[in-house]
Amino acid sequence: MSEKKISLNTYKVSSPWTATVLENIKLTADSSPNDTRHVVINLQGSSYEYVEGQSVGILPPGIDEKGKPHAVRLYSIASHRRGEKGDAQSLSVCVKRVVYQDPVTGLEKRGVGSNFICDLKKGDAVRITGPVGNRFLLPEHVNDPSYIFIATGTGIAPFRGMLKELFQKGFQNHAWLIFGTPYRSDILYEKEFQNYETHQKFHFVTAVSREDKNRDGTKVYVQHRLLEHQKELVPILTDTKTLIYICGLKGIEKGIYETLQSILSPTAYEELRKRILVEVY
Ligand code: FAD
Ligand code: A2P
Repeated sequence: MSEKKISLNTYKVSSPWTATVLENIKLTADSSPNDTRHVVINLQGSSYEYVEGQSVGILPPGIDEKGKPHAVRLYSIASHRRGEKGDAQSLSVCVKRVVYQDPVTGLEKRGVGSNFICDLKKGDAVRITGPVGNRFLLPEHVNDPSYIFIATGTGIAPFRGMLKELFQKGFQNHAWLIFGTPYRSDILYEKEFQNYETHQKFHFVTAVSREDKNRDGTKVYVQHRLLEHQKELVPILTDTKTLIYICGLKGIEKGIYETLQSILSPTAYEELRKRILVEVY
């Protein structure tokens, strides 16, 4: 989207940059069954430059079961292009610790990359690649459109950086952030987003799937919030400048598209599809 030249793959898997960890903060509350971390990585000394919406590659140390070095894992960059401290010398990621049951043995298994990152401590070395991604970006003139950001889980990461960029640039249009998460204890960066609500046209809406309920008793997902707020959202959605960004679990687009289709005319929906950007994994 951005016409400004962006950096891509400054550091490749064959020649990664070895950075150090500045901070590892637990974002989920201790009462949560999940563990999601905000990890800040020092870029000092590197030529790493990125923009909001790009991802960083992380190379876990060690080898896989075939004896090959572990493959690179991608993580959306959660910081603004000027980093956590405004000096463009850091980047952050928002990583959920993956713990799952082996489908064959039924034993508990831990994701290699996510557990490596979630266990990192200040000063630890971490090999990074990238940045990657040239589609899921803000437009060059960020203040022109209104935005609807829809995220589930760690899909919120790119929107943290994007919102910071917008508000630093004196953004005045509508921006909605609709965030789906299983538990209230898992609402990521809640205070930060609530602070933006002093901006009258910014709305932070959560869909807490395992605690909130729809009237018919079913789980509340992001698409249900779209439906619930259709009165405010339809005029924004039909503004041909508005951009819709979707990030998070693979498959969430389907329910979102169905809801958008149900609240818009067929022509408005067809036109809107051209303004939707998706990053799911
Ligand atoms: P692996 O060791 O690779 O193990 C994966 C195994 O875990 C698979 O067999 C899979 O079946 C299983 N598995 C994975 N998740 C689950 C689950 N929820 N339930 C059950 N089984 C599961 N991740 C983030 O945390 N934050 C991000 O910002 C982020 N951004 C991404 C951006 C892009 C563009 C892409 C492609 C992916 C992104 N990911 C992000 C996902 C990330 O790259 C890894 O896939 C994830 O961390 C799991 O890697 P791992 O090495 O821990 O697991
Ligand atoms: P649930 O798992 O209760 O079904 P996380 O990545 O942290 O697990 O969060 C993902 C969130 O997205 C959860 O609240 C999850 O709900 C929700 N979710 C799962 N499937 C869909 C879907 N098809 N559409 C929208 N939200 C979904």
